[in-house]
Amino acid sequence: MSDVKCGPIGIFDSGFGGLTILQDVRRLLPQYDYIYFGDNARAPYGNRSLEMIRRFTHQSVQYLLDYGCPLVILGCNTASAKALRWLQQQVINKQGLSERVLGVIVPTVQVIGGYTRNRVVGILGTQGTVDSHTYDAEIHKYVPDVAIYSQACPMLAPLVENHELDNEGTDYFVRKYVGQLLAQDPRIDAILLACTHYPLLLSSFRKYVPAGTQLVTQGPIVADSLKDYLQRHPEMERRLTREGTCHYLTTESPENFLRGARVFVDESLTVEHIELAQK
Ligand code: DGL
Repeated sequence: MSDVKCGPIGIFDSGFGGLTILQDVRRLLPQYDYIYFGDNARAPYGNRSLEMIRRFTHQSVQYLLDYGCPLVILGCNTASAKALRWLQQQVINKQGLSERVLGVIVPTVQVIGGYTRNRVVGILGTQGTVDSHTYDAEIHKYVPDVAIYSQACPMLAPLVENHELDNEGTDYFVRKYVGQLLAQDPRIDAILLACTHYPLLLSSFRKYVPAGTQLVTQGPIVADSLKDYLQRHPEMERRLTREGTCHYLTTESPENFLRGARVFVDESLTVEHIELAQK
């Protein structure tokens, strides 16, 4: 990695969802510099084809690597499920840059067994994440005794991207998807919000999840995992700049980004519009 320069940690998502990851990562590791990249102009990714998700994720990650990020985190389950392994094997390794792009799925499955007493977990995610069966495969590697049920929630990320966080229409879909998940097995006692957009709808989820059922969000899990990763990889940690800054890049207009992001980022933001080269 001698060709890798020092720089900020890049956090990527299709849109606003990765901000839920960024927030918890910055809370735990405030010393580093961060670049957040939201591909808001093309979000949501969840219902898109495998080819599109790979192409968009590749362009965005490449932008962050070219920007000078030594380490990029896909703060997006859909991209992690459908593009991460392909990116690591087909693209990044070929450039001699292994282990510079991490996702949110492995850190989550490593700890999910600790949230369920009944050994029955429910997964709520985008259509893309659910159809990929990545969670089923990865959870069975780490905790083979846990039964998994999944429910796709195709309306939720678009509602978040359109700033529809707290209203009757959004509640209707949250209630519907939670009901469909629990109907598959009433013993589900841990529900993973396997889309980084969903923590923005946490108050709606709480209304429809039975008492005693854990709602698991990924921000704190990914933050702990990143801290551990950096302790185990001092050669990477040394390449991270440390002034505690955070800049935001979006493929949408900065005004639109600010409107959505203000809901949960409690500071004034520097936002820049960027154009991605077509590949
Ligand atoms: N927030 C992302 C995820 O975790 C993507 C949602 C979308 O773009 O559909 O899956």
